Amino acid sequence: MDRITREEAAVRIAAIDDLDQLDELERELIGKTSIIAQRRRELGKLPPEERPAVGAMLNEAFQDFKSRLDARREELETAAEDRLLEVERVDPTLPALQLPRGYHHLLTETAEEVVDIFTALGYAVASGPEVETAAYNFDALNTPATHPSRLESDTIYVDWGDPADEVLLRTQTSPMQVRYMESHEPPVYVIVPGRVYRSDTLDATHSPVFTQIEGLAVDEGLSMADLKGTLQYFMERFFGEGRRIRMYPHFFPFTEPSAEMAVSCFNCDGTGCRVCGQTGWIELLGCGVVDPNVFEGVGYDPTGVSGFAFGVGVERLALVRHGIHHIRHFFENDLRVLEQFR
Ligand code: DAH
Repeated sequence: MDRITREEAAVRIAAIDDLDQLDELERELIGKTSIIAQRRRELGKLPPEERPAVGAMLNEAFQDFKSRLDARREELETAAEDRLLEVERVDPTLPALQLPRGYHHLLTETAEEVVDIFTALGYAVASGPEVETAAYNFDALNTPATHPSRLESDTIYVDWGDPADEVLLRTQTSPMQVRYMESHEPPVYVIVPGRVYRSDTLDATHSPVFTQIEGLAVDEGLSMADLKGTLQYFMERFFGEGRRIRMYPHFFPFTEPSAEMAVSCFNCDGTGCRVCGQTGWIELLGCGVVDPNVFEGVGYDPTGVSGFAFGVGVERLALVRHGIHHIRHFFENDLRVLEQFR
């Protein structure tokens, strides 16, 4: 190993930019085989009077190399750490990745809300086929073959011809009254949400496909009074405390008597406003006391049980409640509309 001056050593140490190379240089300068180490081992061979001076000089050189090496090591380590920090840097100010969050369609929400109101009263929930027979959609519901709603202008037929075999897209959820009673013994308390179809042209309040919720209660001694109390409760839960209802005569083939029900306007509380067309009332649903003919058809004894039924349009509920002006907004799936109700 050659001799090296302090200046030369300083230059070589400063030039190193790799920790492994620095270790190597350290071995060379102050390691066991270095010149300094060699000289130290040979100190004893010197004349005694020279030993202190040479020893001091070797110590000084050792300390000088060592402190330069240590300083350079620290520099290199810090630089390596800085590089690592830079590479693994996380920028907490970047906006987080926005995962789109799903939500129910307003019609689903509305239907579920109604279903919840009734399941809390002990009603079961059922659903039935959208492709239905005329036998269930009309005949079993006491609807004569001559009824105008059976015309092709009103009903969408899948198979048309002999009334006994006719298949259609159900025009109402009411056929599920029959299907449910056929497979259940009274007492019956059931709520049936579902899609229905009619050959209607789209306008602000009509669509060829829409959603209904059917309600049916059959028990001993049920009357119009029970129907009214149930609907009153339903309306208060749905539109808020203090809502009043009124019922007025109507006709449905499968109920006798039949009625339509209106609720006092939730917006003006009955004084008249735009929401209720200045009448104070919002017409909402059809209902009635189950016709004995329907009971006979499903094998229930009309002298032993009685019941009531109602059918409400889900679109209608949502339209009035939210002041939506056209039913198409429910189906066009324009998120600017739907997101208002998430
Ligand atoms: N199904 C009838 C309609 O679509 C509504 C209805 C009226 C349902 C009276 C009922 C009822 O259950 O009792 O217009």
